[in-house]
Amino acid sequence: MQAQGETVQTAAGSAFFEDIRPWLQRVEDEIARALQVDDPLIEEVSTHLLRGGGKRLRPALVLLSGAVFTAPGPAHFTVATAAELIHMATLVHDDSIDRSALRRGVPTVNARWGDRVAILTGDYLFARAFSLLAGTGDDRAVGIMADVVFQMCMGEIAQFNQSFDPSSPEGAYLERVNKKTAHFIAECCRAGGLLAGAPEPMTRALRDFGYGVGMGFQIVDDILDLTARADRLGKPIGSDLRSGVITLPVLHALANSPQGRRIAEVVVGGRLGDAEVEEIRALVEEAGGLQYAYQVAERFTREARLALSPLPAGPAREALAALADALIHRDY
Ligand code: IPE
Ligand code: IPE
Ligand code: MG
Ligand code: MG
Repeated sequence: MQAQGETVQTAAGSAFFEDIRPWLQRVEDEIARALQVDDPLIEEVSTHLLRGGGKRLRPALVLLSGAVFTAPGPAHFTVATAAELIHMATLVHDDSIDRSALRRGVPTVNARWGDRVAILTGDYLFARAFSLLAGTGDDRAVGIMADVVFQMCMGEIAQFNQSFDPSSPEGAYLERVNKKTAHFIAECCRAGGLLAGAPEPMTRALRDFGYGVGMGFQIVDDILDLTARADRLGKPIGSDLRSGVITLPVLHALANSPQGRRIAEVVVGGRLGDAEVEEIRALVEEAGGLQYAYQVAERFTREARLALSPLPAGPAREALAALADALIHRDY
């Protein structure tokens, strides 16, 4: 973990990663290189996406997980780059599906160029990511990320099937959070360890760590969708409710609020305006839904930190532990 070098010009979240800025700068350069193509439209969209930044959480986890064992080599940087490209692809498609207009504080691809370009760009990003992974010659990297995308699709499909359904149980929510978010983060951590030659019990510990971090991270994202300010979050507030996605704080309120029927009526009714979003937020807060969801996120984070204990102590392990905490205490 040598830490000198240039500043990474990404989103505010890069404050998490002070110590690995030079590594993240290399990832930034590799992303830019991967997106160079002789096509004016793709070039314009890529520049737009790069300018939007992002926390670069997944590359950071690949690199830090590897760094628990050894300094990251070229394969680590390639997998870190591919992970961010896959993440970008999913966000471009997710925003098109959700009809969302803002991402990372800038207009989404669908808002600016339309859904057709968003579909093409997402596919392009997936394809670039997998050609980079194939270029490592390491089947494990390709297999891991192929399965990540498969699970993510299954999670998104489950979310679609469960949308506008207030009777969908908490267990189904947790399962789809695992598939759409936690599995990816877990596998970034495991891949970092694998590429560093870590033995199986250690890669399992890294995967368990990533799973807890990923679950806590998505639950907090779901809380922030109700409570944050759009200018801090860089994406619209209330978008889950508006698209019928019923998240943990709302599920808790549906089951525990004396106004549960009113919440169900508004959520199922669809076409929520700002007033309805605010009404639901207030009812969810009153019913202890926000507090409950935070407690669940904190539990996952605690378990994530415990999972780190078999790993060799050192600055990389410390950074992973600190990152787990910072992620659930963020307000963006
Ligand atoms: C957004 O991920 C999608 C979720 C899984 C919640 P991030 O919060 O990591 O998005 P960026 O990359 O920082 O924009
Ligand atoms: C994560 O969930 C989406 C993906 C895994 C692609 P969200 O739908 O909550 O992500 P945001 O809030 O739009 O970033
Ligand atoms: Mg979304
Ligand atoms: Mg969200």
